[in-house]
Amino acid sequence: MPTLERTEALSALKGIPLFAGLTPQQLRRVAEAGRLKLFRAGAAIVRLGEPGDTFYVILDGHALVVREAGRPLKLHAGDFFGELALIENVPRSADVIATDDVTALTIGHTAFKKLLRSEAAFTYAILKTVIGRLRSDQRAPRWELDNLVP
Ligand code: CMP
Repeated sequence: MPTLERTEALSALKGIPLFAGLTPQQLRRVAEAGRLKLFRAGAAIVRLGEPGDTFYVILDGHALVVREAGRPLKLHAGDFFGELALIENVPRSADVIATDDVTALTIGHTAFKKLLRSEAAFTYAILKTVIGRLRSDQRAPRWELDNLVP
């Protein structure tokens, strides 16, 4: 990434709660691993069923995770997506659509896996969010079950 772009990525990453626990050096490594990319409103950034080789952190704009089941989920600046296909080495689990112009930090699968292995604070931040998502996914069926069982 050119120096100016890297500085821009670094200052954008600094404001992201997901990376709040990272030291300036760790943050620099994340920024260095990435590229800034612009997706126009309406673009499918990720498509369900396709192979995945990129991890995304939204720096600006909004996107929608459209799954096969369940209501669409809104993502905004500071949110990430695309981790599942890379970690499990499986096709994309959902479409992710830019609902307005989106600027994202994109990290290729090799660099992403390297970060996961070498930067525990990064891995912990990802894990915590993924667990939070899993928990909120489980909430709906449990609620329905409570209403079915007398
Ligand atoms: P991946 O499967 O690589 O591509 C689609 C992405 O949508 C997925 O990674 C996650 O980042 C995101 N995603 C899929 N399911 C959910 C969910 N239930 N909650 C939040 N994000 C999701």
